Amino acid sequence: MKSSITALLALATTTLAEWKNLTASSYTLKDSGLSPVIARLDAALPNVYVKDIMADLNHDNPSASPNVKNLVPGSAYAWQKTSDFNDQTGLKWYPQGITTSADAYEKGDYDGFHVHLVSWHSDLYDGGKRGARISFVNRGDGERKYRHVLLVRPKDEDDFEAIDSLHAGGIMWYGNLLYVVSTRGGLLVFDLQRMYKVDTSVDDKVGKQEGGKYAAYGYKYVLPQVRSYDWQAEDGVRDLRFSFLSLDRTTTPDTLLVGEYSATRTDSRLVRWPLDYTTRVLKSLTATEAIQHDALQIQGAASIDGKYFLTQSGGALITHTWADGAVKHGSVFPSVPEDLSVEKGRGLWTLMEQIGFRGVVAVDVTKF
Ligand SMILES: *[C@@H]1O[C@H](CO)[C@@H](O)[C@H](O)[C@H]1NC(C)=O
Repeated sequence: MKSSITALLALATTTLAEWKNLTASSYTLKDSGLSPVIARLDAALPNVYVKDIMADLNHDNPSASPNVKNLVPGSAYAWQKTSDFNDQTGLKWYPQGITTSADAYEKGDYDGFHVHLVSWHSDLYDGGKRGARISFVNRGDGERKYRHVLLVRPKDEDDFEAIDSLHAGGIMWYGNLLYVVSTRGGLLVFDLQRMYKVDTSVDDKVGKQEGGKYAAYGYKYVLPQVRSYDWQAEDGVRDLRFSFLSLDRTTTPDTLLVGEYSATRTDSRLVRWPLDYTTRVLKSLTATEAIQHDALQIQGAASIDGKYFLTQSGGALITHTWADGAVKHGSVFPSVPEDLSVEKGRGLWTLMEQIGFRGVVAVDVTKF
């Protein structure tokens, strides 16, 4: 009896209440400009590039077979869990955001590498002082391995620090740039051509140390923030929460889509800004679309040809078009799905943060 009820629930789709357009021009950002500290760090530290990280991966990604509806066969994988290292059920770092080399470039690879980037926060570890890190995951030829790189923010003349309490709930790779959401701040931009190798002998500190060494809590490489797009408060507009982020290449020009999480509000928003594919920065600081919806506990959003896909804490995937309205597809994921990233021809990538199943999966968008 129980199993047939479960099956019925799994099949059921629920139509939700209406979505509506808001005034997009009320949603604006301010460009910080490029950090002047970066040139000094470039001079002080050895530069490393994506190809160097990909040649120096140090953790295994076992393949996985989670119970996910319309799973792309062979797409699922998990994190290393061994006697001396545990990302799969460890409680210090939680995976949140995902983007792939198919976001970076439409051809799908970056310098010949097929890569996933996954962000992790350390909010529940050491007061969040280690901030956030990015896993570089090899999904192309060669070994299924990854390595973590610490996100850092330049400071003073030639120093950097971890980005304290950065939740990094959504990320998007665009050309050489990595965009990361800062929940109350806006968008942080990191440059993959400005990564540095640091000293791993100091594993409890970050930044410039006595004697001129640089440390990053034991991580071998750092990825520095080069710019931010800061949220601009507007009278009569509730401050936007930057909870998750994805790229839409089906719009002209390309756009980035930001959404906000709320456990209780029925007026959460999705906001879109246009991108310049030549410079890889924002084409406009003013949004081109703002939508309000009533879905609770949304963890990720993506859009393809005007259709929206939202992940929800309970494991649902919600779709929306203006023609058909919102449809809730229940029990798609076995655990809490997070950020989304579209890979054309392959699927819609997401990941789960909880230890029941903490892994990365792609679902077939054409089946929702
Ligand atoms: C919202 O705006 C889009 C265009 O951006 C339009 O296609 C859609 O019909 C609008 N929805 C409503 C309910 O007016």
